[in-house]
Amino acid sequence: MILFDNSYMLQMLEKSLRKRLPESLKVYGTVFHMNQGNPFKLKALVDKWPDFDTVVVRPQEQPGDTEMNVGDGEQVPILKKLTGSCNEEMFKHSTLDVTHAALVDKFWYFGGNRRSQRFIERCIQSFPTLCLLGPEGTPVTWALMDQSGELRMGATVPKYRSQGLGTYVLYSYVQSMDKLGFPTYNHADKANKISQKMNHTLQLVPMPCDWNQWNCVPL
Ligand SMILES: CC(C)(COP(=O)(O)OP(=O)(O)OC[C@H]1O[C@@H](n2cnc3c(N)ncnc32)[C@H](O)[C@@H]1OP(=O)(O)O)[C@@H](O)C(=O)NCCC(=O)NCCS
Repeated sequence: MILFDNSYMLQMLEKSLRKRLPESLKVYGTVFHMNQGNPFKLKALVDKWPDFDTVVVRPQEQPGDTEMNVGDGEQVPILKKLTGSCNEEMFKHSTLDVTHAALVDKFWYFGGNRRSQRFIERCIQSFPTLCLLGPEGTPVTWALMDQSGELRMGATVPKYRSQGLGTYVLYSYVQSMDKLGFPTYNHADKANKISQKMNHTLQLVPMPCDWNQWNCVPL
């Protein structure tokens, strides 16, 4: 395997992966973010160059990495003016704060433990987020991406569901990311009909590839 450990090589890799979309979507998104400051401190290896078949992205071996330390990355504020059907008297647009990680974790399908909450904290600190604050001053709906650029955590608290807020935030987030030049995509489980409906309403383009998640644990 060839280690791509400098910014020139990583930019070449990003360019090459871009030509292989949509199949390369997830690894393209990951390398894109490595080229944007690499907040998750990842490294990329390819089997051969330039006609590679496989790209492996893994954490750099650093003391403390196993604890998933929260990085110093700065959140990119979403500046886009929100437009649409949101009641702006009642809901204020904002970004997520690291103190909101427990709330996000509570409504995340893969959440519910200390590691998932730390992962969310790290995503909040590293990547753009968007939320609406309700009258209580806490997020009622939000969107957040992971280190591969996938819009990975999105939810509306039950009290405020079915009011169009989830669709509104998803739309606003996608628009804002597009403006920043970020590749944006999400995965909606086939069984999650509401999420499927939101993607359909927003006319997001379905990709012909599967979505996989590998859970790696030390032997
Ligand atoms: C998916 C989720 C974010 C939707 O949030 P929301 O704020 O209720 O979304 P919206 O109000 O914009 O509703 C989207 C569509 O689903 C419909 N919908 C919402 N809740 C529904 C329900 N319980 N039953 C049937 N339809 C429902 C809405 O009527 C709307 O349809 P429309 O566009 O035809 O009007 C929310 O249900 C949620 O947090 N679920 C748990 C976490 C989750 O699944 N996240 C997405 C992971 S990919």
